Amino acid sequence: MESMRYRRMGNSDLVVSEIGYGCWPMGGEDFGAIDDAETARAVDRAIDSGVTLFDTAPAYSHGRAEEVLGNLLVGRRGNVIIVTKCGLHWDTDADPRPLRRDSSRASVLDGPGGLHASLRRLRTDYLDLWLVHWPDVSQPFDDVMAVLIEAKATGKVRHVGVSNFRPDQIATVSSLAPLVANQVGYNLFDRRWEQHSFADLRQRGIGVMAYGSLAHGLLSGTWTRETTLLSSDWRSRGMAFRQPLLTPENLRANLDVVDRLKAVASRMGASLPQLALAWVLREPIVSTALVGFRRPEEVDENLGALRVAFTGADLDEIDTIMAGASGQVDELPA
Ligand SMILES: NC(=O)c1ccc[n+]([C@@H]2O[C@H](COP(=O)([O-])OP(=O)(O)OC[C@H]3O[C@@H](n4cnc5c(N)ncnc54)[C@H](OP(=O)(O)O)[C@@H]3O)[C@@H](O)[C@H]2O)c1
Repeated sequence: MESMRYRRMGNSDLVVSEIGYGCWPMGGEDFGAIDDAETARAVDRAIDSGVTLFDTAPAYSHGRAEEVLGNLLVGRRGNVIIVTKCGLHWDTDADPRPLRRDSSRASVLDGPGGLHASLRRLRTDYLDLWLVHWPDVSQPFDDVMAVLIEAKATGKVRHVGVSNFRPDQIATVSSLAPLVANQVGYNLFDRRWEQHSFADLRQRGIGVMAYGSLAHGLLSGTWTRETTLLSSDWRSRGMAFRQPLLTPENLRANLDVVDRLKAVASRMGASLPQLALAWVLREPIVSTALVGFRRPEEVDENLGALRVAFTGADLDEIDTIMAGASGQVDELPA
């Protein structure tokens, strides 16, 4: 098996595995059914393989993803880097419990999606990295940035950052807090953040945590024209962060694209997820490519991305294939 490699997060001293464990599927509510025993084996396999970074959020299954991860990391806390988020709120006694942005002090500290609830669920007294999940433009950014700085001063949080913040928003918040990361979507079907924000982040020394590295499953290589997703699975609604990549008509065209990518991957001696992950990691500003693992076999396979190297001609060919994708838009998700 390939040895894990590590990168620095932006200009900070936080060093993380190039492949990070994305814990969104782990909660069980949003990606269809999940088998907790399989998750436990996948987490063991990831740690044994050198994965250090685990990315979760209170918003993933209303805290359950954090709870599952916290239980699995008992006795191993010191060996891993836990990243979680704040700024999405829900009413605990409502049914259903829709998420809404709320970066008020009360919500990010003491709400169900706040720091204290995260620490409790994750069974730890500190976070390695705490991110504001989505910008809440209904409140001044000053207030939430002040909370991040205070949390850092108390030692409950070692590093702070944001997620899904546009360049104009980064310009504001980076003058208010020492951000080490912006976590944004990045994959072969979604180059919006690369186009709009990577140069700015590079210049500011802020690292990129890439999410959806496998286009949320489209680049897993396992989907066919017959694949159906459960209605509880967010991907069944056809949209991937405001890109209609997965509507029936676009999905058909995108699966043709996937078939052509698979042929390139196989010529390179790689699988499609390996090619897709290596493509994300070819970009030096990416500190870690997050993958939502579900099974230990996926950990083994995805680590093979670390031995995939592209020539200029490979990258040109991939660009030509991607020109046939359907449903891409230019606007950033907001
Ligand atoms: N900050 C944010 O706003 C934000 C947004 C999205 C995600 N994230 C983070 O980024 C992480 C990764 O994104 P994601 O989970 O949405 O999407 P992803 O990593 O692109 O795709 C996840 C899906 O790919 C499939 N998969 C993974 N490896 C595979 C392999 N080797 N072979 C076959 N299938 C494989 C899994 O199974 P199935 O296809 O069977 O389900 C999984 O559901 C999340 O878990 C979360 O931590 C953050």
